[in-house]
Amino acid sequence: MATSTPTARNFDIKDPSLAAAGNRRIEWAAREMPVLGQIRDTFSRTRPFEGVRLLGCAHITTETANLALTLQAGGANAVLCASNPLSTQDDVAAALVEAGIPVFAIKGEDDETYHRHIHLAIAHKPQLLIDDGADVVTILHKEYPELLPDLLGATEETTTGVIRERAMEAAGVLRFPVIAVNDADTKHFFDNRYGTGQSTIDGILRATNMLLAGRTVVVAGYGWCGKGIATRIRGMGSQVIVTEIDPIRALEAAMDGFMVETMERAAPKADLVVTATGNINVVDRHHFEALKDGAMLANSGHFNSEINLKALAEMSGEGRRTLRPFVEEYTFGDKSLIVLGEGRLINLAAAEGHPASVMDMSFANQALAAEYIVQQGRTLENRVYRVPEEIDRKIAELKLAAMKIAIDVLSPEQVHYLHSWEG
Ligand code: ADE
Repeated sequence: MATSTPTARNFDIKDPSLAAAGNRRIEWAAREMPVLGQIRDTFSRTRPFEGVRLLGCAHITTETANLALTLQAGGANAVLCASNPLSTQDDVAAALVEAGIPVFAIKGEDDETYHRHIHLAIAHKPQLLIDDGADVVTILHKEYPELLPDLLGATEETTTGVIRERAMEAAGVLRFPVIAVNDADTKHFFDNRYGTGQSTIDGILRATNMLLAGRTVVVAGYGWCGKGIATRIRGMGSQVIVTEIDPIRALEAAMDGFMVETMERAAPKADLVVTATGNINVVDRHHFEALKDGAMLANSGHFNSEINLKALAEMSGEGRRTLRPFVEEYTFGDKSLIVLGEGRLINLAAAEGHPASVMDMSFANQALAAEYIVQQGRTLENRVYRVPEEIDRKIAELKLAAMKIAIDVLSPEQVHYLHSWEG
């Protein structure tokens, strides 16, 4: 694992000389992000964030770079840190630093460095926060109460983060407004489902080069991400078993044509298990006992807690080796299990995360939600809000226009019909 020593510089990245390569890849992603591109043009004229100190805690990817440059074009004084130790693209971090956006992130950083980077970014004293997983939101509340009054608000990218922030709201401890970008229709319908579906397969294949056809794959969780993963893996010719704890989602999975079983019954059949539940220890000690020799385990949820790696390490003792990047073998008794990407989100650890075309909508939501927070001044309450519906619909319309897809418009007669009850 990469470690780094504390630095007096106002950024901490792997290698500034990677900037040119990063710039070319950022430009490549921008071609697939026309909605964010339009917002960037507008922001350069309207400058909604003039002088606002902004902290983005996100996966440092080409797509995030386009978001950061959009916010900078809108006048934001932005800094970035990573939302996961394995998801940083070091060339992108270098390009952003060159563009005047300090970044604290190095791919493969250890947990201590990851947390130190968050604290270095917080030293920027943010007024606006873009979070992915709520690490900065929780650290600010626990360790920096003196900074909370400065916060106009935060936006949250992911399901896990929104769950944590709603728990803070319910406990009465949330001290600034949060906009749940994840809950926008133009975010989770597409990013969580098609983005995670495709990029999870991408990560698994880049790590292993395995053939998915003919394999039995267990997908844990049938939320938006699990639905996408299960559907796309079925499309690769695998037999897919879904595990769930929610009766309605389980029923939905069954009627979508998947086998639905408990993890206990599914584990012995699995060639590959993919977790996407947002919970802890979904694959636990007794499941490791039940899994077949050579079975593989990957996670696509936000935190590396879905596979109980502590228990697996205890069971394996010295029987552990790296077979190739992102592929670790754990041996106990007469069998070995393969863990991909250290149990961290495999799509960002071993691949590049969701494609730019889908992040276009997620990050358009981020940009417009951040603008909305600033526009509202301090009138929002300390609650978790949905993205305003007008923003969600506008993003859908802009994306359709960019895709050159036209849709019908209700005739006056149809409008009248929809508003009448007499028939
Ligand atoms: N989350 C999932 N995919 C991502 C990407 N490509 N960039 C930033 N965050 C992501």
